[in-house]
Amino acid sequence: MNFSMIVAADEKRGIARDGDLPWHLPGDLAHYKNYTSRTADPNKQNAVIMGRTTWDTLPPKVQPLPGRYNVVLSRSIEEQVNEKWRVCRNLDDALVKARANKSVEHIYITGGGQIYTEALEYPECQTIIYTRILKDYGCDTFFPEFEDRFEFDELFDKRTENDTTYRIEIWHRK
Ligand SMILES: NC(=O)c1ccc[n+]([C@@H]2O[C@H](COP(=O)([O-])OP(=O)(O)OC[C@H]3O[C@@H](n4cnc5c(N)ncnc54)[C@H](OP(=O)(O)O)[C@@H]3O)[C@@H](O)[C@H]2O)c1
Repeated sequence: MNFSMIVAADEKRGIARDGDLPWHLPGDLAHYKNYTSRTADPNKQNAVIMGRTTWDTLPPKVQPLPGRYNVVLSRSIEEQVNEKWRVCRNLDDALVKARANKSVEHIYITGGGQIYTEALEYPECQTIIYTRILKDYGCDTFFPEFEDRFEFDELFDKRTENDTTYRIEIWHRK
């Protein structure tokens, strides 16, 4: 099963500063929720795979992210499995477990920087849904370089929120 990555990054590919998003873009958050939640089969859900640091940033009411099967990568927290979320010790295992879940239609890698960097090296990583924020936020965590291995496919119109302009791009592996 191929998988996708979904990310919002500033003009230096920055994704976070001081452990949080340095922008507030409700329209992009809605896009993230819709994109990762929608399925062709109404009886299925998507899986979201994220690093433990990103998991820790989720507010309690959306941890786990509702309507999606959450897989958390960690070598430190206790292993656990339930219907809504589970912990895995490495990315290979996370992908195997997500694929083995019969309810899962598509897999999204949802960050952060460590997980994006590792997942980009997998040939099964076929698509990147990339929100390009046209500003420099002085981030300290980054999305890896990818443009040489991917080709640009689709662009959604520019939007401006809170004085920040961004556009949503779709990239496919060459
Ligand atoms: N802009 C965006 O679209 C976006 C999206 C997502 C996240 N973010 C931001 O990104 C930041 C977090 O990124 P990050 O790079 O610091 O951390 P991260 O990738 O979210 O998580 C790193 C942690 O994941 C675990 N991990 C990493 N690789 C692993 C592997 N191969 N196997 C098992 N566990 C593994 C480790 O957890 P243990 O220490 O528990 O072992 C590691 O400390 C946050 O500030 C978040 O807000 C931004």
